Amino acid sequence: MESANEAYKVAVFGAYGHTGRFVVAELAARGFVPVASGRDAAKLRELAASRPGLDIRPATAGDPASLDLALSGVAAVINCAGPFAETAAPVIEAALRAGIPYVDVAAEIEANADTFAHYAARARTEGALIVPAMAFYGGLGDLLVTAALGDWTSADEAHIAYGLNSWHPTTGTRAAGEVSHARRGGRRVRFADGRLQYHDDPVSTTDWSFPAPMGTRTVVAEFTMADVVTVPSHLPIPEVRTYMTTEAAKDLSEPGTPAPVPADEHGRSDQTFLVDVVVRSGGTERRAVARGRDIYAVTAPLAVEAVHRILTGRTRTTGVASPGAAFDAPDFLRALSDHILVELPERDPEVLAARG
Ligand SMILES: NC(=O)c1ccc[n+]([C@@H]2O[C@H](COP(=O)([O-])OP(=O)(O)OC[C@H]3O[C@@H](n4cnc5c(N)ncnc54)[C@H](OP(=O)(O)O)[C@@H]3O)[C@@H](O)[C@H]2O)c1
Repeated sequence: MESANEAYKVAVFGAYGHTGRFVVAELAARGFVPVASGRDAAKLRELAASRPGLDIRPATAGDPASLDLALSGVAAVINCAGPFAETAAPVIEAALRAGIPYVDVAAEIEANADTFAHYAARARTEGALIVPAMAFYGGLGDLLVTAALGDWTSADEAHIAYGLNSWHPTTGTRAAGEVSHARRGGRRVRFADGRLQYHDDPVSTTDWSFPAPMGTRTVVAEFTMADVVTVPSHLPIPEVRTYMTTEAAKDLSEPGTPAPVPADEHGRSDQTFLVDVVVRSGGTERRAVARGRDIYAVTAPLAVEAVHRILTGRTRTTGVASPGAAFDAPDFLRALSDHILVELPERDPEVLAARG
């Protein structure tokens, strides 16, 4: 318990969703006072029944006054209500009106790109900080790429390979995928030659050599995730590629795959992840690795650590910023050692070199 955080109320929009519940629990565990918001008053009451004393404030994206009430007297807001194509802009507008920082967990490439495009200049002018994709996808990869670079200021390529043993998607993940698919007109997307490119190339697979004990696995190449927005937003890397183990990609694509089921005392599922990052410059390669359990659950410590750092002045910029630009990436990752095991170049050079 960090008693210094007790003064801070932090609103969670989408608080009763699968990810929102983890975020509310993490805020409480770290001594913040969560304020639970969302569009369904009955679901908020049901959440409060399991958390006596929880401050609940119904609000909808279409009603700015309700959002203003939801954010009244809070120090920051974490938006967990997706699809973010629908919720990001209204909640950002409310956060700017309230003069508080905004953090979200959006995995949608286009929604995250919109947040940068629409709010970067205004947030900078107002001295506000908006951190989109402060989550497993988009955020963790960006922190790892930033940490892997070390003293490099640029690289030729960044590769982020997601080694998931399975992926039981939530309703929100499926909805976000459908919205993104529709926004792309069914096309695929990659980040190459310094820009997002939409294309119709067939899906291909390749082998990726993950660190032990996972070893070589077949991955879907160009399984493009939000890292293609977060990384290039602050790092001059013209090629950013993301990959996904085929078993997890298959789970996601099958409509019958069930939602995640709690399997431990923290409510985490039995899903494990290994995120393997390689950056290349000239003929040289640097790596960073993260391991943990449950991509939804681990999003909570990522988002709450971000809020903690913002509220305690440990930030590097204002405006709209990716996690690697907003925070000291290696320090941020190491602060999460209860949740994520990381191997970074400057701390674990031998481990990483042995794999090269
Ligand atoms: N980047 C990442 O790694 C990462 C990690 C975790 C989650 N996410 C994203 O976070 C979102 C939520 O995921 P989840 O796993 O928590 O899904 P979930 O359990 O289905 O929860 C979705 C939440 O969003 C709310 N919501 C949906 N549309 C809304 C709208 N128009 N206005 C207000 N609230 C709305 C839902 O409320 P109702 O029940 O009232 O519909 C619910 O509270 C998804 O977009 C997902 O992709 C991303």
